[in-house]
Amino acid sequence: MKGIILSGGRGTRLYPVTQVVSKQLLPVYDKPMIYYPLATLMLAGIRDIMVISTPEALPLYRALLGDGADWGISISYGEQPQPEGLAQAFLIAEDFIAGEPSALALGDNIFYGAGFRSVLVDAARTTSGATILAYPVAEPSAFGVVEIDDRGLARSIEEKPARPKSNFAVTGLYFYDSDVVEIARAVTPSVRGEIEITSVNAAYMARGDLRVVRLQRGTAWLDTGTIEDLFAAANFVQTIEARQGYKIACLEEVAWRLGYIDADQALGLAERHPNSYGAYVRTIVEHG
Ligand code: G1P
Repeated sequence: MKGIILSGGRGTRLYPVTQVVSKQLLPVYDKPMIYYPLATLMLAGIRDIMVISTPEALPLYRALLGDGADWGISISYGEQPQPEGLAQAFLIAEDFIAGEPSALALGDNIFYGAGFRSVLVDAARTTSGATILAYPVAEPSAFGVVEIDDRGLARSIEEKPARPKSNFAVTGLYFYDSDVVEIARAVTPSVRGEIEITSVNAAYMARGDLRVVRLQRGTAWLDTGTIEDLFAAANFVQTIEARQGYKIACLEEVAWRLGYIDADQALGLAERHPNSYGAYVRTIVEHG
Protein backbone atom coordinates (compact mmCIF):
# COMPACT_ATOMS: atom_id res chain seq x y z
CA MET A 1 0.00 0.00 0.00
CA LYS A 2 1.20 3.51 -0.87
CA GLY A 3 0.91 6.36 1.63
CA ILE A 4 0.13 10.03 1.03
CA ILE A 5 0.45 12.86 3.53
CA LEU A 6 -1.39 16.00 2.57
CA SER A 7 0.34 19.01 4.08
CA GLY A 8 -1.09 21.75 1.95
CA GLY A 9 -3.54 24.52 2.69
CA ARG A 10 -3.08 28.14 3.59
CA GLY A 11 -3.57 27.64 7.31
CA THR A 12 -5.47 30.91 7.51
CA ARG A 13 -7.12 29.93 10.78
CA LEU A 14 -3.69 30.04 12.41
CA TYR A 15 -2.56 33.42 11.00
CA PRO A 16 -0.22 35.12 11.77
CA VAL A 17 1.56 31.95 12.94
CA THR A 18 1.25 30.31 9.53
CA GLN A 19 1.64 33.43 7.43
CA VAL A 20 5.08 32.36 6.21
CA VAL A 21 5.35 28.80 7.58
CA SER A 22 3.40 25.75 6.45
CA LYS A 23 1.18 24.62 9.31
CA GLN A 24 2.44 21.04 9.34
CA LEU A 25 6.00 22.25 9.95
CA LEU A 26 4.97 23.89 13.22
CA PRO A 27 6.01 22.12 16.39
CA VAL A 28 3.60 19.96 18.31
CA TYR A 29 5.57 20.09 21.56
CA ASP A 30 8.95 18.55 20.66
CA LYS A 31 8.75 17.65 16.97
CA PRO A 32 7.33 18.99 13.73
CA MET A 33 3.64 18.25 13.23
CA ILE A 34 4.25 16.15 10.11
CA TYR A 35 6.22 13.61 12.20
CA TYR A 36 2.91 12.42 13.67
CA PRO A 37 1.16 11.36 10.43
CA LEU A 38 4.48 10.02 9.18
CA ALA A 39 4.76 7.81 12.26
CA THR A 40 1.13 6.76 11.77
CA LEU A 41 1.76 5.56 8.21
CA MET A 42 5.00 3.84 9.24
CA LEU A 43 3.17 2.02 12.04
CA ALA A 44 0.61 0.89 9.47
CA GLY A 45 3.53 -0.81 7.71
CA ILE A 46 3.58 1.69 4.82
CA ARG A 47 7.08 2.54 3.62
CA ASP A 48 6.49 4.28 0.31
CA ILE A 49 5.13 7.74 1.05
CA MET A 50 4.42 10.92 -0.93
CA VAL A 51 4.26 14.26 0.87
CA ILE A 52 2.07 16.78 -0.94
CA SER A 53 2.35 20.48 -0.20
CA THR A 54 2.41 23.93 -1.73
CA PRO A 55 5.20 25.01 -4.11
CA GLU A 56 6.49 27.43 -1.45
CA ALA A 57 6.62 24.88 1.36
CA LEU A 58 7.89 21.82 -0.52
CA PRO A 59 11.60 22.80 -0.31
CA LEU A 60 11.27 22.96 3.46
CA TYR A 61 9.66 19.52 3.65
CA ARG A 62 12.45 18.17 1.45
CA ALA A 63 15.05 19.76 3.72
CA LEU A 64 13.39 18.29 6.81
CA LEU A 65 12.57 14.78 5.59
CA GLY A 66 14.85 14.12 2.61
CA ASP A 67 14.23 10.91 0.73
CA GLY A 68 13.23 9.03 3.90
CA ALA A 69 16.32 6.78 3.85
CA ASP A 70 17.21 7.89 7.40
CA TRP A 71 14.12 6.05 8.61
CA GLY A 72 14.30 3.16 6.17
CA ILE A 73 11.41 4.45 4.08
CA SER A 74 11.02 6.21 0.74
CA ILE A 75 9.62 9.74 0.66
CA SER A 76 8.73 11.51 -2.56
CA TYR A 77 7.06 14.85 -3.08
CA GLY A 78 4.04 16.17 -4.94
CA GLU A 79 2.96 19.73 -5.56
CA GLN A 80 -0.51 21.13 -4.92
CA PRO A 81 -0.41 24.63 -6.45
CA GLN A 82 -3.82 25.62 -5.07
CA PRO A 83 -5.79 24.14 -2.16
CA GLU A 84 -8.52 22.59 -4.30
CA GLY A 85 -9.62 19.86 -1.95
CA LEU A 86 -8.24 16.94 0.01
CA ALA A 87 -9.19 14.41 -2.65
CA GLN A 88 -7.10 16.26 -5.22
CA ALA A 89 -4.21 14.44 -3.53
CA PHE A 90 -5.15 11.31 -5.48
CA LEU A 91 -4.95 13.13 -8.81
CA ILE A 92 -1.58 14.66 -7.91
CA ALA A 93 -0.32 11.27 -6.73
CA GLU A 94 -1.75 9.21 -9.59
CA ASP A 95 1.62 8.12 -11.02
CA PHE A 96 3.00 7.49 -7.54
CA ILE A 97 -0.01 5.33 -6.61
CA ALA A 98 0.53 3.36 -9.82
CA GLY A 99 -2.66 1.31 -9.53
CA GLU A 100 -2.05 0.15 -5.94
CA PRO A 101 -4.24 0.65 -2.87
CA SER A 102 -3.37 3.82 -0.97
CA ALA A 103 -3.77 5.52 2.39
CA LEU A 104 -4.23 9.26 2.82
CA ALA A 105 -3.17 10.88 6.09
CA LEU A 106 -3.92 14.54 6.73
CA GLY A 107 -0.77 16.28 7.91
CA ASP A 108 -2.44 17.77 10.97
CA ASN A 109 -4.02 14.64 12.47
CA ILE A 110 -2.50 13.01 15.55
CA PHE A 111 -3.47 9.55 16.78
CA TYR A 112 -2.33 7.85 19.95
CA GLY A 113 -3.47 4.93 22.04
CA ALA A 114 -3.17 1.33 23.10
CA GLY A 115 -4.28 -1.03 20.38
CA PHE A 116 -4.14 1.64 17.70
CA ARG A 117 -1.31 -0.07 15.84
CA SER A 118 -3.43 -3.15 15.17
CA VAL A 119 -6.26 -0.92 13.90
CA LEU A 120 -3.73 0.57 11.48
CA VAL A 121 -2.33 -2.75 10.33
CA ASP A 122 -5.85 -4.12 9.74
CA ALA A 123 -6.97 -1.03 7.83
CA ALA A 124 -3.82 -1.15 5.68
CA ARG A 125 -5.03 -4.53 4.42
CA THR A 126 -7.78 -2.72 2.48
CA THR A 127 -7.56 -4.00 -1.08
CA SER A 128 -11.20 -3.61 -2.00
CA GLY A 129 -13.48 -0.75 -1.01
CA ALA A 130 -12.52 1.86 1.56
CA THR A 131 -11.86 1.94 5.29
CA ILE A 132 -12.26 5.08 7.39
CA LEU A 133 -11.87 5.61 11.12
CA ALA A 134 -14.62 7.19 13.20
CA TYR A 135 -14.18 8.89 16.55
CA PRO A 136 -16.86 10.12 18.94
CA VAL A 137 -16.63 13.88 19.46
CA ALA A 138 -18.56 16.42 21.49
CA GLU A 139 -18.99 18.77 18.52
CA PRO A 140 -19.39 16.72 15.33
CA SER A 141 -20.45 19.62 13.10
CA ALA A 142 -16.80 20.72 12.83
CA PHE A 143 -15.96 17.52 10.92
CA GLY A 144 -17.08 14.98 8.38
CA VAL A 145 -19.81 13.02 10.19
CA VAL A 146 -20.67 9.37 9.56
CA GLU A 147 -23.58 7.17 10.61
CA ILE A 148 -22.63 3.53 11.01
CA ASP A 149 -24.94 0.53 10.50
CA ASP A 150 -24.72 -2.67 12.52
CA ARG A 151 -22.51 -4.32 9.89
CA GLY A 152 -19.91 -1.57 10.33
CA LEU A 153 -20.72 0.07 7.00
CA ALA A 154 -21.48 3.76 6.54
CA ARG A 155 -25.19 4.59 6.32
CA SER A 156 -24.70 8.33 5.74
CA ILE A 157 -21.74 10.66 5.49
CA GLU A 158 -21.82 14.45 5.44
CA GLU A 159 -19.20 17.19 5.51
CA LYS A 160 -19.58 19.57 8.46
CA PRO A 161 -23.37 19.21 8.73
CA ALA A 162 -25.31 21.84 10.67
CA ARG A 163 -27.45 19.02 12.13
CA PRO A 164 -25.15 16.01 12.56
CA LYS A 165 -26.86 12.61 12.34
CA SER A 166 -24.36 11.00 14.73
CA ASN A 167 -21.53 12.04 17.04
CA PHE A 168 -18.95 10.13 14.98
CA ALA A 169 -16.39 12.36 13.29
CA VAL A 170 -14.48 11.02 10.30
CA THR A 171 -10.79 11.23 11.13
CA GLY A 172 -8.15 12.36 8.67
CA LEU A 173 -6.81 8.90 7.84
CA TYR A 174 -8.36 7.03 4.94
CA PHE A 175 -7.57 3.68 3.26
CA TYR A 176 -8.68 2.99 -0.31
CA ASP A 177 -8.48 0.36 -2.99
CA SER A 178 -6.97 1.13 -6.37
CA ASP A 179 -10.22 2.70 -7.67
CA VAL A 180 -9.73 5.87 -5.65
CA VAL A 181 -8.01 7.83 -8.42
CA GLU A 182 -10.90 7.27 -10.83
CA ILE A 183 -13.43 8.01 -8.11
CA ALA A 184 -11.67 11.28 -7.18
CA ARG A 185 -11.54 12.28 -10.85
CA ALA A 186 -15.31 11.83 -11.15
CA VAL A 187 -16.12 13.98 -8.10
CA THR A 188 -17.91 17.26 -8.79
CA PRO A 189 -16.29 20.10 -6.84
CA SER A 190 -18.35 21.35 -3.88
CA VAL A 191 -19.80 24.86 -3.59
CA ARG A 192 -16.50 26.01 -2.08
CA GLY A 193 -14.81 24.72 -5.26
CA GLU A 194 -13.03 21.76 -3.63
CA ILE A 195 -12.80 18.07 -4.48
CA GLU A 196 -14.02 16.90 -1.08
CA ILE A 197 -12.77 13.71 0.51
CA THR A 198 -16.31 13.28 1.83
CA SER A 199 -17.55 13.02 -1.77
CA VAL A 200 -15.03 10.24 -2.45
CA ASN A 201 -16.22 8.45 0.67
CA ALA A 202 -19.85 8.95 -0.37
CA ALA A 203 -19.06 7.28 -3.71
CA TYR A 204 -17.68 4.23 -1.87
CA MET A 205 -20.72 4.28 0.41
CA ALA A 206 -23.04 4.25 -2.62
CA ARG A 207 -21.31 1.02 -3.70
CA GLY A 208 -21.85 -0.44 -0.21
CA ASP A 209 -18.10 -0.43 0.21
CA LEU A 210 -17.33 2.12 2.94
CA ARG A 211 -16.21 0.30 6.08
CA VAL A 212 -16.08 2.34 9.28
CA VAL A 213 -13.85 1.34 12.17
CA ARG A 214 -14.83 2.94 15.46
CA LEU A 215 -11.83 4.06 17.46
CA GLN A 216 -12.04 3.11 21.11
CA ARG A 217 -12.55 5.67 23.84
CA GLY A 218 -9.01 5.00 25.01
CA THR A 219 -7.60 6.29 21.75
CA ALA A 220 -6.71 9.94 21.39
CA TRP A 221 -7.45 11.70 18.12
CA LEU A 222 -6.38 15.31 17.91
CA ASP A 223 -6.15 17.79 15.11
CA THR A 224 -4.63 21.21 15.01
CA GLY A 225 -7.11 23.32 13.08
CA THR A 226 -7.14 26.20 15.52
CA ILE A 227 -4.64 27.76 17.91
CA GLU A 228 -6.54 26.17 20.81
CA ASP A 229 -6.32 22.71 19.16
CA LEU A 230 -2.60 23.18 18.49
CA PHE A 231 -1.99 24.19 22.09
CA ALA A 232 -4.09 21.29 23.40
CA ALA A 233 -2.22 18.80 21.20
CA ALA A 234 1.15 20.08 22.44
CA ASN A 235 -0.06 19.81 26.04
CA PHE A 236 -1.30 16.28 25.43
CA VAL A 237 2.01 15.13 23.97
CA GLN A 238 3.96 16.83 26.75
CA THR A 239 1.81 15.24 29.45
CA ILE A 240 2.12 11.69 28.10
CA GLU A 241 5.83 11.99 27.33
CA ALA A 242 6.73 13.52 30.71
CA ARG A 243 4.74 10.90 32.60
CA GLN A 244 5.82 7.78 30.72
CA GLY A 245 9.25 8.74 29.50
CA TYR A 246 8.29 7.48 26.03
CA LYS A 247 7.97 9.80 23.10
CA ILE A 248 5.02 9.87 20.72
CA ALA A 249 5.96 9.77 17.01
CA CYS A 250 9.73 9.75 17.43
CA LEU A 251 10.54 8.59 13.89
CA GLU A 252 13.96 7.23 14.78
CA GLU A 253 12.42 5.05 17.49
CA VAL A 254 9.55 3.93 15.25
CA ALA A 255 11.94 3.03 12.41
CA TRP A 256 14.24 1.13 14.76
CA ARG A 257 11.44 -0.75 16.54
CA LEU A 258 9.88 -1.76 13.22
CA GLY A 259 13.26 -2.99 11.98
CA TYR A 260 13.39 -0.41 9.17
CA ILE A 261 16.83 0.68 10.44
CA ASP A 262 19.34 -1.08 12.67
CA ALA A 263 20.74 0.08 16.02
CA ASP A 264 23.86 1.64 14.48
CA GLN A 265 21.78 3.69 12.07
CA ALA A 266 19.49 4.84 14.88
CA LEU A 267 22.48 5.82 17.04
CA GLY A 268 23.89 7.77 14.09
CA LEU A 269 20.63 9.69 13.82
CA ALA A 270 20.70 10.38 17.56
CA GLU A 271 24.05 12.16 17.08
CA ARG A 272 22.37 14.71 14.83
CA HIS A 273 20.24 15.98 17.67
CA PRO A 274 22.60 17.13 20.44
CA ASN A 275 19.78 17.57 22.92
CA SER A 276 17.24 15.61 24.93
CA TYR A 277 15.63 14.28 21.72
CA GLY A 278 18.91 12.68 20.61
CA ALA A 279 19.57 11.45 24.15
CA TYR A 280 16.14 9.81 24.12
CA VAL A 281 16.86 7.96 20.88
CA ARG A 282 20.20 6.77 22.27
CA THR A 283 18.62 5.54 25.52
CA ILE A 284 15.84 3.69 23.70
CA VAL A 285 18.22 1.93 21.35
CA GLU A 286 20.77 1.06 24.05
CA HIS A 287 18.29 -0.07 26.67
CA GLY A 288 15.25 -1.15 24.63
C1 G1P B 1 -11.12 17.59 6.95
C2 G1P B 1 -12.25 16.76 6.33
C3 G1P B 1 -13.24 16.31 7.41
C4 G1P B 1 -12.51 15.55 8.50
C5 G1P B 1 -11.34 16.41 9.04
C6 G1P B 1 -10.48 15.59 9.98
O1 G1P B 1 -11.66 18.80 7.41
O2 G1P B 1 -12.89 17.53 5.33
O3 G1P B 1 -14.22 15.47 6.84
O4 G1P B 1 -13.40 15.22 9.54
O5 G1P B 1 -10.49 16.87 7.99
O6 G1P B 1 -9.39 16.34 10.49
P1 G1P B 1 -10.72 20.10 7.63
O7 G1P B 1 -10.05 19.91 8.94
O8 G1P B 1 -9.75 20.13 6.50
O9 G1P B 1 -11.67 21.25 7.63
